[in-house]
Amino acid sequence: MFEPATTKNIGLRGVKVADTKISHVDGENGILIYRGYRIEDLAKNSTFEETAYLLLHDRLPGAGELEEFNRQLVRARQIPSFILNTLKDLPHGAPPMDVLQASVPLLAMADPDVTNDSREANVTKAMNLIASIASLVAAWQRIRHDKDPLPNDEALSHAGNFLWQLTGEKPDPETAKDLDTALVLHADHSFNPSTFACREVVSTQAHMYAAVAAGVGALSGSLHGGANAQVMKMLMELRDEKDVRGWVNKQLDSGRKIMGMGHAVYKTIDPRARFLKDMCFRLGKKLGQEHWCNLSSVIEESAVSAFEKRGKTTIKPNVDFYSAPVYHMMGIPGDLMTPIFAVSRIAGWTAHIIEEKFGDAQEKPALYRPSSEYIGNYCGKTGCAYEPLETRK
Ligand SMILES: CC(C)(COP(=O)(O)OP(=O)(O)OC[C@H]1O[C@@H](n2cnc3c(N)ncnc32)[C@H](O)[C@@H]1OP(=O)(O)O)[C@@H](O)C(=O)NCCC(=O)NCCS
Repeated sequence: MFEPATTKNIGLRGVKVADTKISHVDGENGILIYRGYRIEDLAKNSTFEETAYLLLHDRLPGAGELEEFNRQLVRARQIPSFILNTLKDLPHGAPPMDVLQASVPLLAMADPDVTNDSREANVTKAMNLIASIASLVAAWQRIRHDKDPLPNDEALSHAGNFLWQLTGEKPDPETAKDLDTALVLHADHSFNPSTFACREVVSTQAHMYAAVAAGVGALSGSLHGGANAQVMKMLMELRDEKDVRGWVNKQLDSGRKIMGMGHAVYKTIDPRARFLKDMCFRLGKKLGQEHWCNLSSVIEESAVSAFEKRGKTTIKPNVDFYSAPVYHMMGIPGDLMTPIFAVSRIAGWTAHIIEEKFGDAQEKPALYRPSSEYIGNYCGKTGCAYEPLETRK
């Protein structure tokens, strides 16, 4: 007989719910790999487009394949006008993550092939989503400021075109490359909460868009992708390095979190944070805004030392800690930092959705359906006596 394992209230930590061939996090050693390649290697040598291809197809593309993939992404940047008109009708103060989550089902409605669940159709949907999420985030930034969305520039890379459509200024190649690298770093992270949400939804055989909408919702929380926006708030609030130590101790003494620190899997520094820290100082020097990186660094030192004094030796900066000042220096507003996480993570979500749908990593995909312990009211097998409304006290 099937004996269910009992693992309650631990957030499924350490519970292996499925196999995957897509990415692996070695939390003890601070190592992240996508399809076998170290993240540092991809960040230095790859592009977001090539990394997205790798995640989706389990191998790096040849030159012709990458060219065709890029062409398809560029073609899919165009958002249907009914979606842009719908966005124009939304309250302009709506949080960008809510707008993004609401827009994903509109993309499903725009897809004439939405009910085609073949692998080929899902790969096409993945490319459309990778292109469209960036266009949607940029379009909303324009619309909420009473500006028309900008046409895409076919000559620009995914990251470069995103910056152009967002700001209305053609980015310098170095800034576009830095954003491209940040997108590579955020593209996948094994069974993180939003990816697991996507996999859970498609395990019911729902379509890719339904899963991605759930993924956007999961990413929005401040313990997940929402942390980068909270880090930026912290930097804005602190501003002065001399206030850091007192503030950190006050946060921890009152049981509050230091955002951008700690991780469910990493027990050492997140390799993406190390990369983004270097990028922060390089960008800061170039733009004369090094104070953001100095301030972040002082918070890091102070927080790590305060955690250690409290016996918590494994809490170090995660990916969100240095991405916040990096994005800020690129001119990206705080409330778009989490949507930009989605602009990248859509590559991983769609790769995981395809893996889940087609049982690529294990023979038989199964509907996720955990059990729960019922601890509520119980009146025996007959159930509690139902009191009609008229006689109920
Ligand atoms: C990501 C996070 C939810 C992981 O939590 P977790 O798996 O419970 O982490 P740990 O088991 O290592 O936590 C151990 C202890 O340290 C505390 N802790 C972890 N991160 C902390 C943080 N950033 N600030 C303050 N305390 C923290 C936990 O509350 C827990 O305290 P307790 O033992 O007194 O209950 C957590 O580190 C966090 O909330 N970080 C801030 C949000 C963030 O940056 N999220 C983005 C993640 S990429």
